[in-house]
Amino acid sequence: MKLRLVAVAAGVLILVALTSPSSVPAGFESKKSSRYLESWSPITGVAPRDAFVGSQACAGCHTDLGKTAPQTPMGQAMLLPNQFDLLHGQKQLTFRHGPFRFDIHRQGDQFMYSVGDGKDTLSEPILYAFGYGLKGQTFVFLHDGTYYESHVSYYTNVRGLDITFGHSYEVPDSLDKALGRIMSPADTLLCFACHSTAAVIQGRLDAHALMPGVGCEDCHGPGDEHVAAMKAGKFDSPHVFNPGRLEPGDLVDFCGNCHRTWEQVVKMQVFGVRNVRFQPYRLSNSRCWSYDDARVSCVACHDPHLNLPPEAASYDSKCLACHVSGRGARPDKTHPGRPCPVAKQNCITCHMPKYTLPEGKSEFTDHFIRVVRKGAPYPD
Ligand code: HEC
Ligand code: HEC
Ligand code: HEC
Ligand code: HEC
Ligand code: HEC
Ligand code: HEC
Ligand code: HEC
Repeated sequence: MKLRLVAVAAGVLILVALTSPSSVPAGFESKKSSRYLESWSPITGVAPRDAFVGSQACAGCHTDLGKTAPQTPMGQAMLLPNQFDLLHGQKQLTFRHGPFRFDIHRQGDQFMYSVGDGKDTLSEPILYAFGYGLKGQTFVFLHDGTYYESHVSYYTNVRGLDITFGHSYEVPDSLDKALGRIMSPADTLLCFACHSTAAVIQGRLDAHALMPGVGCEDCHGPGDEHVAAMKAGKFDSPHVFNPGRLEPGDLVDFCGNCHRTWEQVVKMQVFGVRNVRFQPYRLSNSRCWSYDDARVSCVACHDPHLNLPPEAASYDSKCLACHVSGRGARPDKTHPGRPCPVAKQNCITCHMPKYTLPEGKSEFTDHFIRVVRKGAPYPD
């Protein structure tokens, strides 16, 4: 572990120690202290807002992780309009759908999302862009006091707007409907929970104080007690949740809080290529999968603090942790996987193919690792 600790003045220490536990509400304590160590879930929002210190505070000591994690697509899964160029280098983004004209443009220091039908126009400032933009970005705004998901989104592969994934291509029958989809309160809660940190506080959406993107504390739990303990030199009780200590299968479910678990996908009944985006589901259908083998859990192949490496070959060692290699090689206890009769490298290029979602919007890597036969149907 690479850590550079900062020296802390004794005065600050006492202050932190005195202030941290004071505002813990009733019911919350029953989770017990080491309160999140066993049971932290990034989306239930059990903690009070002032238990969160923000990723920048973590970066004060965890300098390397603090530089990389916030820069990943996951760390930027939500962006505020002032955090980036919402127009992606273009002057204006427009899209036509039947009689409706959609338009995103800058107005002063805001970005306006407008829909007009030739007679009337509805216009609202964009509050949040969901998605870093590798694949796409959907806009969220308030209209008549209600959160809306924009009817059109930015898609990187068309470098422009198109109908938001999941919305109907049928021409809406009113300007109001063309604006977007009304997000139900439950829906709103979950969207923010998965794309930002500390947005859901004790079961309620508190959009004012959210931290956009998946921050350190989304996965590690609120950091106030940990920071206080570390500053006080209590290294034997770090008071922080480390998902790396979960059983491999539980870790996959932990990531599945947002990437969806096998169970959720079965319940949601998402069939065909649409379920390719739910990696925990796809992976656990694979013959490589084993609940208690850490070599096939999400973090075996992905460091959540880093960007994905660009080379396919960088995954070979992950496969060869289980598969023997070379003609005549035989699987054994430590390497239960058979050798490949075809190739010795770039395993993922043949065994983890990419699929484009229906409507051609974005591409995902199939985590159902397998021999892919030409013309064979997509296995659910
Ligand atoms: C004052 C310095 C300091 C700050 C600020 C700090 N940490 Fe730490 N952290 C440490 C030290 C020191 C350790 C090593 C403790 C040990 O395992 O002995 C540690 C360990 C950890 C661990 C591993 C714990 C385990 O049980 O494996 C995690 C996860 C972690 N920190 C996350 C965070 C997060 C998230 C934040 C921000 C909310 C943060 N840290 C802020 C000093 C700090
Ligand atoms: C709080 C919700 C949340 C949790 C928990 C979470 N993720 Fe994510 N993750 C996201 C979101 C949202 C994105 C999409 C980012 C984007 O492109 O906008 C994402 C994207 C990713 C990506 C793609 C990055 C890229 O470069 O395209 C990987 C890989 C990933 N997550 C791995 C993990 C792993 C491994 C875990 C468990 C340790 C995990 N995630 C847990 C929400 C989460
Ligand atoms: C259960 C957690 C969860 C919820 C709820 C959720 N997302 Fe996501 N979202 C993710 C994850 C994980 C990814 C990355 C993998 C993927 O793209 O499916 C993602 C990716 C995205 C992307 C990137 C582009 C794309 O299509 O892949 C956009 C845009 C997005 N979400 C918008 C939204 C909006 C808007 C809402 C609410 C109306 C929402 N999400 C609700 C977890 C969630
Ligand atoms: C998407 C979830 C996620 C996010 C966001 C995240 N971490 Fe982690 N973190 C993990 C997981 C999972 C592990 C365990 C990795 C393992 O064991 O391979 C971990 C491990 C750690 C550790 C233990 C030491 C190590 O290097 O393995 C520290 C310290 C840590 N994270 C700090 C941070 C800090 C600081 C941030 C924000 C800058 C952050 N993490 C953001 C999921 C996350
Ligand atoms: C055996 C290795 C392996 C395991 C285990 C694994 N992944 Fe991946 N993952 C990959 C590869 C390879 C890619 C594609 C990387 C690329 O194209 O740059 C990928 C891509 C992704 C992406 C980016 C979107 C996409 O589909 O292309 C997300 C999100 C992701 N993985 C999440 C997860 C989660 C969550 C888990 C745990 C259920 C997981 N992965 C387990 C190898 C793995
Ligand atoms: C945790 C260990 C483990 C890891 C990691 C692993 N596999 Fe496997 N894999 C197995 C086992 C066990 C089987 C079943 C025996 C066999 O077919 O070799 C299997 C089966 C397969 C099969 C045959 C599937 C079928 O439908 O007949 C392919 C292809 C495969 N693995 C490729 C890969 C690739 C590529 C990777 C890396 C991206 C990988 N495996 C990672 C353990 C693993
Ligand atoms: C160029 C594409 C390609 C690459 C790269 C590749 N494979 Fe394969 N692999 C195949 C094909 C095709 C088959 C099916 C062969 C057959 O059944 O005739 C196969 C079969 C397998 C099998 C099943 C073996 C059996 O006895 O049925 C495993 C396991 C496997 N590959 C693992 C891997 C691993 C691990 C890597 C990387 C070290 C890898 N493959 C790289 C194309 C590839």
